[in-house]
Amino acid sequence: MNISHISRRAVIAAAAALAMPVAMAQAPAKLKVGFMLPATGTFAALGTAIENGFKLYLTEKGGKLGGREVEFVKVDDESDPSKAIDNVNKLIKRDNVDVLVGSVHSGVAMAMAKVAKESGTLMINPNGGADAVTGAMCAVNIFRSSFSNWQPGFAIGQAMAAKGHKTAATITWKYAAGDEMAKGFKEGFEKAGGKVTKELTLPFPNVEFQAQLTEIAAAKPNAVFSFFAGGGAVKFVKDYDGAGLKKTIPLFGTGFLTDGTLEAQGASAEGVLTALHYADGLNTPRDNAFRLAYVKAFKMQPDVYAVQGYDAAQMLGIGLDAVKGDAKNTAGFAAAVTKATIDSPRGKFTISKAHNPIQDFYLRQVSGKENKVVGIASKALADPARGCNM
Ligand code: BEZ
Repeated sequence: MNISHISRRAVIAAAAALAMPVAMAQAPAKLKVGFMLPATGTFAALGTAIENGFKLYLTEKGGKLGGREVEFVKVDDESDPSKAIDNVNKLIKRDNVDVLVGSVHSGVAMAMAKVAKESGTLMINPNGGADAVTGAMCAVNIFRSSFSNWQPGFAIGQAMAAKGHKTAATITWKYAAGDEMAKGFKEGFEKAGGKVTKELTLPFPNVEFQAQLTEIAAAKPNAVFSFFAGGGAVKFVKDYDGAGLKKTIPLFGTGFLTDGTLEAQGASAEGVLTALHYADGLNTPRDNAFRLAYVKAFKMQPDVYAVQGYDAAQMLGIGLDAVKGDAKNTAGFAAAVTKATIDSPRGKFTISKAHNPIQDFYLRQVSGKENKVVGIASKALADPARGCNM
């Protein structure tokens, strides 16, 4: 037997045994992110933009958040609140995700928040504006990188009154997002001296607008406020123009009416005024770099949904860095995120005690294929967080 050969093997084996625990300690388990977003239906493109934005930030951070590599589990929530509880339970109980990211639809976001609150699972909401998520349902583990429905509604209400309009009709889908944006609009408009004279709705996601357009024509308000998004927004803006209303009754909305939709809306959207926490033509180094990177990665222009996805990842990274990747330490995560200033492409913002962004709302006007920033509708606007006891 060759003694020197045995001893060399023994030395290698001993070294490997010694090195193994060290190597294992250096590679924490992957962070499981559960994406619950729409991949089908009228909001499908919004879900894609959120996912793209999230992944862009992750790539910029070398594929890690809080020192952990990330793996995704995805569910198509179909923007269907009746399936939401089952879907989110699958992500938590079957897939054991560390964090929930979703959703777009307010009703789905509320169902997610309910389950997240009960289970204590960390949740970042990258769109769904339901006021309750950072209002009555607020919790230490629930965050939003987007907006509350009240915020853009209130901002455009004030802006419409500032343009000298005295009466307005509102038209929205009949569900939490439509109801709450119209309510925020009414509060902002009437506080500034306007009067809402007609309130019209149709069920989500219907797009047959003729009956309501006829009512608007007969009521002759000074201006119209509307909330629609995705495919529904494309059809509404075209139908409003097609009915001949755009020339006589100016159309306003929360910015979802024209964000990510201008290519399809064409000339029908020209001149429409909206308020949102993102706009084209911000021309800041931060936004320019983001837009360049997004176009390079996905061969399409970013929109507000992409920014909200990007900032969801950014908030997750900030919070997880503070707790060394421990997604269960939601108190430590919350302390870090509420202390931080988020360096967003939209402009810097902070997170309120109720975990909703405090941010500027831009006044935007459609010009060609852009939602051009033409002013600030509301500076550093904080949601009132009604019902939140945190
Ligand atoms: C919502 O349901 O909260 C929503 C959907 C699309 C755009 C904005 C808000």
